[in-house]
Amino acid sequence: MRGIFKVGKKSHDVLLTRIKLTWTPIIPESPTGDGTVLEAGAVLLQDVFAVKVKRRRAATQQSGGAVLGLALFHCRRRGRRLEEDTLHLHNASAEHTHSWYNTLKELLSGFSSRPRYVKVFINPSSHKKEAVHIYRDHVAPLFKMADIRTDITVTDRKGHALSVMKECKLDEYDGVVCVGGDGSVAELCHALVLRAQLDANSPEKPVRAVLPLGIIPAGSTDVVSCSVHGVRDPVTAALHIVLGHLQQVDMCSFSSNGQLVRFGFSAMFGFGGRSLARAEKKRWMPSSRRREYALVKTLARLRPEDCQLSFLPAKSSNSSFSAHRDQGKDPTKKPDSEMEESWITNQGLYLSISIMSIPCLSPHAPQGLAPNTSLDNGSASLIAVGNASRSEFIKHLKRYSSSSGQFSFPFVETHSVSEVKIRPRSLIGWSEEDSEEEGDSKTTPIIQSERAAFPWNIDGELVEIANDVIIRVHPRLITLYGEEVDEAESSITCNCI
Ligand SMILES: *[C@@H]1O[C@H](CO)[C@@H](O)[C@H](O)[C@H]1NC(C)=O
Ligand SMILES: *[C@@H]1O[C@H](CO)[C@@H](O)[C@H](O)[C@H]1NC(C)=O
Ligand SMILES: *[C@@H]1O[C@H](CO)[C@@H](O)[C@H](O)[C@H]1NC(C)=O
Ligand SMILES: *[C@@H]1O[C@H](CO)[C@@H](O)[C@H](O)[C@H]1NC(C)=O
Repeated sequence: MRGIFKVGKKSHDVLLTRIKLTWTPIIPESPTGDGTVLEAGAVLLQDVFAVKVKRRRAATQQSGGAVLGLALFHCRRRGRRLEEDTLHLHNASAEHTHSWYNTLKELLSGFSSRPRYVKVFINPSSHKKEAVHIYRDHVAPLFKMADIRTDITVTDRKGHALSVMKECKLDEYDGVVCVGGDGSVAELCHALVLRAQLDANSPEKPVRAVLPLGIIPAGSTDVVSCSVHGVRDPVTAALHIVLGHLQQVDMCSFSSNGQLVRFGFSAMFGFGGRSLARAEKKRWMPSSRRREYALVKTLARLRPEDCQLSFLPAKSSNSSFSAHRDQGKDPTKKPDSEMEESWITNQGLYLSISIMSIPCLSPHAPQGLAPNTSLDNGSASLIAVGNASRSEFIKHLKRYSSSSGQFSFPFVETHSVSEVKIRPRSLIGWSEEDSEEEGDSKTTPIIQSERAAFPWNIDGELVEIANDVIIRVHPRLITLYGEEVDEAESSITCNCI
């Protein structure tokens, strides 16, 4: 379509194609020579999320009013951030404006990945209790503008979202939205995959989640959200949902004793697990202080875990090739028997072992805790830190924030893996040692099992497991609203170590 609208105060020649809308100033035949620079511009339809007819209305008027033209609501990129912007096209002809409106509406309805109806979970008790405000102030207005209907559950306890997701009718929704921190995200990702598995009646094999998940960051770390948005910004996150940007993401299953423990993206054993377990005992502290306290205390009592670490190296292949190879295949396919033989087993002392199927970007570690994995190439990074002195270990940790050389220490090994098995060999678990040192055994009920449990940090959640843990990577098990980013915006420096 082609027509004339005023953009700003000047008349423009406006052209609409299936791809974009462009406007060029109409130069008067005899320029007045006032020196104003007239600007042409363009907006891609893939960035436009709503179009409305503008009318002149008195404050008391509910409807009607003279047509003024169109408003196009679109997103603009600023680095990793998506920002909302409005283009005003003025033309007082009702007929002209309506025919453009209808055409634009029709073109926009062709973007099939954009959701129309979403299930929203808000965790009101996430970090600083801001989730409800964040949703109301930054997200709800964008959803309303884009005509996205919502069905909202404000969760009142841990596990609430999971129980709703197990029961609710999914086929009405186009997507699920989580407003919360890493804990809420982990619960919903686990819930979506578990639900798919239940629906497919496949108790053994994980099944791809049916609905995409949008994550509105409202927590204190927001690692998953940061990995698919590059920033911790609710507006960016909401615009990715509104515009239907979909990114497939690998997930891991964590199991022990032949039982599924949960689905997730990352796990830390050793330092990361112990530090989280310590922090959880100080729930009365504000969360940032709690984390610093636990970090410092765990460093002070640094000790290696004696364990057997086995892993199956990922088949080396570039990501486009592996994406092609796995197209349409079962995400859970067991390794071929020839691969079974390529397990590598090490035994020894480790200060920390992490397994991450996503890069885990955050403002603290802009290139991620695991810079050498991508969101969807079917492999995870295994980072095994052997025993070392405290000062060497601190040097290793500190380098995450500068994103360079954190792995170039003789005691750090990294591998790209598809499966990992960890068998703790020490019989001393964790609760005994800790309650003794803290001297406040009444806050730490110790349930003494035959084998003491070891603390794991799985997506920021404390999970205590006494036995071997098997971690398998499942390619593209879930879809998130967002996109692959290689580096997060960094604004925070951790000064506690
Ligand atoms: C990935 O591997 C495929 C198949 O071997 C090859 O054709 C392609 O060029 C590779 N792409 C990159 C980016 O290396
Ligand atoms: C990451 O990958 C690059 C290229 O594949 C490799 O040179 C580098 O050593 C890897 N780094 C780690 C820590 O594995
Ligand atoms: C996955 O991607 C990362 C980063 O691009 C690369 O270092 C790694 O080798 C890839 N792994 C596989 C199995 O393709
Ligand atoms: C771990 O390494 C440190 C520093 O090299 C050493 O002092 C300590 O004895 C080692 N721990 C064990 C259990 O071997």
